[in-house]
Amino acid sequence: MRLDTEKLRAYYSDAPEDISLGDIDLDRIPAHVSIIMDGNGRWATARGLDRSRGHVAGVDSLREAVTTSVRLGLDALSVYAFSTENWRRPQHEVDLLMHLFATTLVKELPLFHQENVRLRFLGDIDALPERTRTVFQRGLDETADHDGMTFALAVNYGSRAEIARAARQIALEAAQGLIDPAGVDERAVSERLYTAGLPDPDLLIRTSGEMRLSNYLLWQLAYTEFYVTPTLWPDFDRWEFLRAVAAFQGRSRRFGGVVAS
Ligand code: IPE
Ligand code: IPE
Ligand code: MG
Repeated sequence: MRLDTEKLRAYYSDAPEDISLGDIDLDRIPAHVSIIMDGNGRWATARGLDRSRGHVAGVDSLREAVTTSVRLGLDALSVYAFSTENWRRPQHEVDLLMHLFATTLVKELPLFHQENVRLRFLGDIDALPERTRTVFQRGLDETADHDGMTFALAVNYGSRAEIARAARQIALEAAQGLIDPAGVDERAVSERLYTAGLPDPDLLIRTSGEMRLSNYLLWQLAYTEFYVTPTLWPDFDRWEFLRAVAAFQGRSRRFGGVVAS
């Protein structure tokens, strides 16, 4: 994606001591960054607040992450917002999250228009409450023609369910004689995942210090660089994002090969 360096510099003025835009190679920005947004509950609990306040605060971080991604010129930003396992949470927390997804999306549509961001969803959206589903569909319809960054929101997403779904589709198509079972390759699987058409993430960020994937993008993260920060999601800002990109640029990606010396 094309970089507007003037806008980017203005966005990244007032640098803290440890990091600045100058620490980043603007020619080597990752194309696709994915984030497991974790730690909302702990952020709230540490302040004596209800967990829901952490989710509300997390929305501000998400808005900033979208803007940061656009400024950095990413092709895609994907974020894990609700897993297939998160239905196990107390009903009032699930309700609050579903409500928050819907209201936030409506509120942020102008930002998507302004920044030419195309929205997509990863996960089984059909199983969501009707209002959330309706708003999501509206978001898809209204941003379908945008050709800037893709913003993928993973909601009711589980990687194992996603892979099982792809296998089921392949089996059905084979049974109908539409595809040859012997020809099923990695590409055939990739094309039937929720992420079809998106490049695999170059960088995965997880906030709140947890060193696990929690059923997120198991297939797509095969060669992704991981960056785990102890920062809780509501405290994650444009500078934290820059630290992650700087760490990414310090890595040697070998994809199983060797680095030419
Ligand atoms: C992440 O924050 C948001 C969702 C999973 C919806 P958490 O709610 O998991 O926060 P912690 O991990 O309990 O602190
Ligand atoms: C992963 O976070 C899911 C999202 C961030 C949406 P969780 O908080 O649900 O993960 P676990 O339970 O700590 O593994
Ligand atoms: Mg969590």
